[in-house]
Amino acid sequence: MTEKIPAAPGVVRQYKTGDLEACRALWVVLTEWHRDLYQDRKIGGADPGRLFDEHLDRVGAENVWVAEVSGEVVGLTGLIPAEHDPELEPLVVKEQYRESGIGRQLVETVIDKAQAEGARFLRVRPTARNDLALLVFHRLGFDILGHIELLMDFRSVDPTTWHPGEKIAGRDFRV
Ligand SMILES: CC(C)(COP(=O)(O)OP(=O)(O)OC[C@H]1O[C@@H](n2cnc3c(N)ncnc32)[C@H](O)[C@@H]1OP(=O)(O)O)[C@@H](O)C(=O)NCCC(=O)NCCS
Repeated sequence: MTEKIPAAPGVVRQYKTGDLEACRALWVVLTEWHRDLYQDRKIGGADPGRLFDEHLDRVGAENVWVAEVSGEVVGLTGLIPAEHDPELEPLVVKEQYRESGIGRQLVETVIDKAQAEGARFLRVRPTARNDLALLVFHRLGFDILGHIELLMDFRSVDPTTWHPGEKIAGRDFRV
């Protein structure tokens, strides 16, 4: 268990070039989180930090924000623009800084930007097994289920790979 850093005021600001390495590292934190959730080291490929570069190229620096505490970049979020329903992606806070309001500040920044741009909806698409993200997003106002993505796994996987999870429309779904 990582020791928590005592709460200090976080500042959310737009991404700047000097944040590149810190944001790559936060993308790795996000990837490790999903690797642990799914017990799958292949998630994110060989160099997951570089996926941040692809994201930045796609959305532009004006749609990426970081949270800073005492000069250290400890959180990252972004907005994938779209005419009607932009998407909040990614969202990650360094483990030692969680549960002190930084995630909320980041999410609220994205909500404000999406609203200012006249969006009709703001989407988030957490993985179905990410209970913490579901809890946090629900707490922050995302309480409408839009689309649901269903998967069929063609690999010959261990029966324990997918966990009993959600009941939707009276049916049991694995996550
Ligand atoms: C999701 C994440 C970014 C939240 O960041 P955070 O800084 O801990 O969030 P905050 O402290 O601002 O909490 C936001 C709200 O969720 C609640 N919350 C956060 N973590 C919680 C927990 N473990 N248990 C219960 N509630 C929790 C807080 O109480 C808060 O609600 P409030 O403001 O009404 O009190 C962080 O947990 C994280 O990086 N998780 C791993 C990566 C991930 O799953 N990202 C989302 C991918 S889609």
